[in-house]
Amino acid sequence: MEYTTLKNSDLRVSRICLGTWLFGGRRWGKVDTDESLATIRYALDSGINFYDTADAYGEGIAENLLGRVLAAERKNVVLATKAGVVWRNDGTRYIDLSASHIHEAVHKSLQRLKTDYIDLYQLHEMDPNTPIEETGVVLLKLIEEGLVRYIGVSDFDCPSLERLRAIVPVLTVQSEYNLLKRESEADMLLHCLENGLPVLAYSPLEHGLLTGKFVTTSVFSEDDNRFHDEEFQGERFLRNLERIEKLKVLSRNLGKSPSQVAIRWLLDSNGIDVVICGARRPEQLIENVGAAGWKLSEESFRFLSVVFRL
Ligand SMILES: NC(=O)c1ccc[n+]([C@@H]2O[C@H](COP(=O)([O-])OP(=O)(O)OC[C@H]3O[C@@H](n4cnc5c(N)ncnc54)[C@H](OP(=O)(O)O)[C@@H]3O)[C@@H](O)[C@H]2O)c1
Repeated sequence: MEYTTLKNSDLRVSRICLGTWLFGGRRWGKVDTDESLATIRYALDSGINFYDTADAYGEGIAENLLGRVLAAERKNVVLATKAGVVWRNDGTRYIDLSASHIHEAVHKSLQRLKTDYIDLYQLHEMDPNTPIEETGVVLLKLIEEGLVRYIGVSDFDCPSLERLRAIVPVLTVQSEYNLLKRESEADMLLHCLENGLPVLAYSPLEHGLLTGKFVTTSVFSEDDNRFHDEEFQGERFLRNLERIEKLKVLSRNLGKSPSQVAIRWLLDSNGIDVVICGARRPEQLIENVGAAGWKLSEESFRFLSVVFRL
């Protein structure tokens, strides 16, 4: 495993972080709890010490599973969770970053994670109804109380991030970034690079697409987000598959799998500190961990950047 110390902190983390959205058990088809638990245990065995979750992942289910496995390892792991996404009973959601919501949410997360502090507390998305300054003040208080150590944001725009940073130090930025999703390069990623903010890239395999396992006839169940995702539909899906064929050829020549090469491209990208990888079962994580410990040549890196350019 490769490790890095996140700038302006004492958090030494594995550059592959285990993402736990799927463990929430909703919106990713059928999820097996035993496999989720085994995947977390394998992550520990493979040297992954960084875990990303959210109170919204299965409305607490993913945090609970992490707590079950990681409570005994608390001092050896770095826990990152998120707050702000709230699900209604009808399956729709809204964002709440109000002081009262955050105050309540952090205590529930602490309980589920079986810990008395959260290493990295992240705002899941921007809330159009709460001034970010209100959220900043409550986050400062959580740090002072020792309930959270550092603050991060996810899916923020640059102006809102800067308004928040004027109130409270922000350690990290989570951004969707992979070979197929490059939009943030000219915007948030550049901003982070210029301001020395560590980036945690999420969905590195575009929800499994970059593993190369899907074909033109692949179908998804209606309770799987990919059923509705435009990257998996029509012309766009076909174009993605065409480009992934080139990733497959390069990977074969390198003696690696497409997943390993796609994750490695992120690890080798300037300004990307950590890659948050999802896995349904240990075997997938075993493969993905093989992205650590080597580097793409400049030529291979450039080839992929061009094949998958916007
Ligand atoms: N901040 C945010 O708003 C946000 C948003 C999205 C994600 N995230 C974080 O990022 C994490 C990862 O995101 P993600 O789950 O979308 O990303 P991903 O890593 O792009 O895709 C993970 C999925 O791909 C498939 N897969 C992974 N490795 C595989 C392998 N070696 N072989 C075959 N299939 C494989 C599995 O699903 P199947 O078996 O079903 O194919 C797995 O669940 C999340 O868990 C979460 O922690 C954060």
